[in-house]
Amino acid sequence: MQHIYLHETIKPFPFHLSINTAEMTNITIHSTAIVDEGAQIGEGSRIWHWVHICGGARVGKGVSLGQNVFVGNNVVIADHCKIQNNVSVYDNVTLEEGVFCGPSMVFTNVYNPRSLIERKCEYRNTLVKKGATLGANCTIVCGVTIGEYAFIGAGAVINKDVKPYALMVGIPAKQIGWMSEYGEQIPLPIKGQGDFICPHTGSHYELNIDTLKISDANNYD
Ligand SMILES: CC(C)(COP(=O)(O)OP(=O)(O)OC[C@H]1O[C@@H](n2cnc3c(N)ncnc32)[C@H](O)[C@@H]1OP(=O)(O)O)[C@@H](O)C(=O)NCCC(=O)NCCS
Repeated sequence: MQHIYLHETIKPFPFHLSINTAEMTNITIHSTAIVDEGAQIGEGSRIWHWVHICGGARVGKGVSLGQNVFVGNNVVIADHCKIQNNVSVYDNVTLEEGVFCGPSMVFTNVYNPRSLIERKCEYRNTLVKKGATLGANCTIVCGVTIGEYAFIGAGAVINKDVKPYALMVGIPAKQIGWMSEYGEQIPLPIKGQGDFICPHTGSHYELNIDTLKISDANNYD
């Protein structure tokens, strides 16, 4: 507890905090946040106003949880994810390293909810792979996998698996292109053959039919 830095404007913790301290270094937790007993939070993470983290949650290192974020029990948020304001990360959602969740985007975990029918045993898993971006106000219908570095445009509704590097927009979302790890559209068709070298990173992308991969050939010349 002594290792947790309070935001400078804030009073002492008014909330219940009982966390194994081995990992609890350089963590910022705003005093309005609620961190339930048992929650794991990695080094360097920042937990802002009105966040609630449930006791079973595992939050990695260098994670940022913006204002009013909720993190459920059966949730993994890997290192260096950024979760913007007003996002609820419900049970059965897993975010791999470096995922960006835009403000007010929505996860779900029950596919066909009814208030009068209990469906807690029917949660569907959502997996968001490394480096993906989920744009502001998009919705992820549960049961899908979003590939590495995929980019979901603002307001999109995802109801199917998304390929790595795919740029998806609309309702329901359709692929309109490919997005680089740097975060810019790659000038290649959705299907076909082709190559692209990112001018920012030097990474070499290869399109083969309908799959885009980054090759090891960063020294391609
Ligand atoms: C996808 C995005 C990055 C734009 O990428 P881009 O490569 O510049 O793409 P363009 O603006 O050239 O758009 C390509 C086409 O897709 C459409 N499009 C782009 N974003 C869209 C979206 N979110 N929803 C629907 N259509 C969209 C454009 O209107 C355009 O259509 P057109 O060819 O018929 O004119 C941007 O629109 C976006 O959604 N960013 C997310 C912002 C966000 O959520 N930030 C959160 C942190 S604040």
